Amino acid sequence: MRLEFPKGFYWAAATSSHQVEGNNHNDWSEWEKKNAKRLAEEATLRRAQGKKWPDYILKNYPNPLQEENYISGRACDHYNRFREDFDIAKSLSHNAHRFSVEWSRIEPEEGKFDEKEIEHYREVIKALRERGMEPFVTLWHWTNPIWFAKKGGWLNKDAPKYFERYANKITRSLNFVRFWITLNEPEIYANNSYFKGVWPPQKKNLISCLRVIRNLIKAHQKSYKTIKEINPNNQIGISKHNIYFENIPFVNYFWNEYFLNKIKKHQDFIGLNYYFHRRFPKNENKIISDMGWEIYPEGIYHVLKGLKKYNKPIYITENGLADARDEKRADFIKEHLRWTHKVIGEGVDVRGYFYWSLLDNFEWDSGFWPRFGLVEVDYKTMARKIRNSALEYAKICKENAIDSDL
Ligand code: BGC
Repeated sequence: MRLEFPKGFYWAAATSSHQVEGNNHNDWSEWEKKNAKRLAEEATLRRAQGKKWPDYILKNYPNPLQEENYISGRACDHYNRFREDFDIAKSLSHNAHRFSVEWSRIEPEEGKFDEKEIEHYREVIKALRERGMEPFVTLWHWTNPIWFAKKGGWLNKDAPKYFERYANKITRSLNFVRFWITLNEPEIYANNSYFKGVWPPQKKNLISCLRVIRNLIKAHQKSYKTIKEINPNNQIGISKHNIYFENIPFVNYFWNEYFLNKIKKHQDFIGLNYYFHRRFPKNENKIISDMGWEIYPEGIYHVLKGLKKYNKPIYITENGLADARDEKRADFIKEHLRWTHKVIGEGVDVRGYFYWSLLDNFEWDSGFWPRFGLVEVDYKTMARKIRNSALEYAKICKENAIDSDL
């Protein structure tokens, strides 16, 4: 059966600055230098204790046991190769693209904006438009300028003010973008950086974590007003990481709804990033990705349904998996789209799907080994190779429809 998507649906992929650009100088790049050795040693220790890394991961470069795996360095050199990468996306029939602007490039020193870097992003947007792709621009995808981090980062009570100043400058300068995503997954950041203590600045404190969330809420609200004033046509939202909690309603409220309720009056659309399903007891027979994450496409149906009450257009701004052998990706995409189609049929206003990610990229504290890309990157030569699943996805993008067996 052929399942048609609504007219004008956005078919795309997403990236973020720190994960693909290369040569960024921010709080993450500093942290990588200090922690790469430890992360490689920990992976080696886990292996000695019995963790089995498959050969297809260990024979890739770089692999989890190597220190260079954990240094973003040149990343995918997308900063210099964005045109070539957009040519690929266009050849795959994408009609939109999500990327992030790197705050540390735009404002490397407090209050001093780098016009050359702003011009760079102007070129990036122009390149997308020339190829018929609608830009969705994220303003903050977890990395911070060094000066901001030194001031206490998102714990500083003035953090929302600093962020709004940057948002004001960049959205005014790029006043021909229509879709703005202020923040990427605020609660994942707050949790990993301030509660679990696994990401910079590695704090383990619930109060700090909650304070960071409060500041991120304020930062969004403040910049929403500014961006709207600059141009009332601007469409503004966040990318929200929602999890399908099958039978844990209490957690569902805090994780999926709290932040969105706080910004209810300050958003024109909802960006949904969907990766996870949780239930008690755990499902032991699950199919997993290279990261060990369960693949559970039905979950996207439930989280989308949960967003219906906000009465806003929804864009799936991320959904993807690490799959170095490209064995599961094509089905993964198709299945998530099948459930998305079903929910659209039930009146949920979903308007786009952005696969994570266009390219293999730097996966934060896991480094380069997880391969999320529609396009494979050879990190020695920087050569790009289109994966088969990308071609399968391209057919869907082109047809605005999937063929479903059900
Ligand atoms: C993030 C991406 C990340 C992806 C896969 C999302 O939570 O926004 O930056 O690479 O998940 O882990």
